[in-house]
Amino acid sequence: MRIEINRPLDMHLHLRDGAMLKLAAPHSAKDFAGAVVMPNLVPPVNSAEAMSAYRSRILDAAGTHAKNFAPLMTIFLQKQTPEELLAFKNTPGFFAMKLYPAGATTNSDGGVRDFGEAEPTLRAMEELGIPLLVHGESNGFVMDRETEFLPVYRDLAVRFPELKICMEHISTAAALPLLDEFENLFATVTLHHLLFTLDDLAGGLLAPHLFCKPIVKRPEDREALRAAVFGGNDKIMFGSDSAPHPVSQKESAAAPGGIYSAPVLLPALTELFARNGALEKLNGFLGGNARKIYGLPETTQKIALEDTPQSVPARYCAEDGETCVVPMLAGKEIAWSVCE
Ligand code: DOR
Ligand code: ZN
Repeated sequence: MRIEINRPLDMHLHLRDGAMLKLAAPHSAKDFAGAVVMPNLVPPVNSAEAMSAYRSRILDAAGTHAKNFAPLMTIFLQKQTPEELLAFKNTPGFFAMKLYPAGATTNSDGGVRDFGEAEPTLRAMEELGIPLLVHGESNGFVMDRETEFLPVYRDLAVRFPELKICMEHISTAAALPLLDEFENLFATVTLHHLLFTLDDLAGGLLAPHLFCKPIVKRPEDREALRAAVFGGNDKIMFGSDSAPHPVSQKESAAAPGGIYSAPVLLPALTELFARNGALEKLNGFLGGNARKIYGLPETTQKIALEDTPQSVPARYCAEDGETCVVPMLAGKEIAWSVCE
């Protein structure tokens, strides 16, 4: 069987920098029309200059795929003035502001400590029509941290009714009702939260390459997310949260959160949707919904997949030969492949 879908969008992606960027960028640029690029570098991407320079490095790293790939750039929300926000808006490639509660995840120490202090920035974004992407889980190995964070979304949605607010990679059943409750709330969902539960991460031997934030949850959470996505909920967008870390760090006594899913996303998503009889919902989830929500241009480009199985490599290494990363589903078989 062969299917054709619109060239998709990944609405939440970590591309890193340096050798890792060179390794990761082609994996996404090969299959995707565009991706919302996270700003949590060290130091964070928090100015128009840093954003433009990073965008150039991404396009450079994407190589021959760059012509079909648009990096949708984000800037780390601090206390930017309306003038600064306007300058961002007028800089090519700018897409949205990303709010990290301070210390919530990898490289987020410079984030927002108290929402009161961000109020003038958020108000100006509302006026300028700049979307707000919120990293919605605090640090700590507590399964319900996302649930704890839901009142914050609620509060933001009420106080800034004209602001488009995206709950970045929701992972629990409890987050879903908010989408019905507030017109201005949207969400991204990852592939790994649709595939895995805590048992896959830590039910047997610990699987550090499935460790991410937010942590994968209970089977009932996964089922609720699946039902929403396969049911075609048009407020939910695919955001991979693909987040490569060197294998030496992931397989250590202090492993950082992050699953490197970029190389397998399209075939694995197609397999999952096909198995659940939901192939007709793939286009919406993989970009149609996002294009409508944010008014992004439609694409005329297509990408084809066929149900030819492939095995996922055990690891990918950068040109420097030292930076290696283990992809999601390493060593496993996927039932579909992208037609080259
Ligand atoms: O697992 C994660 N890794 N979650 C995040 O939010 C950040 C990301 C990273 O940057 O490594
Ligand atoms: Zn992320």
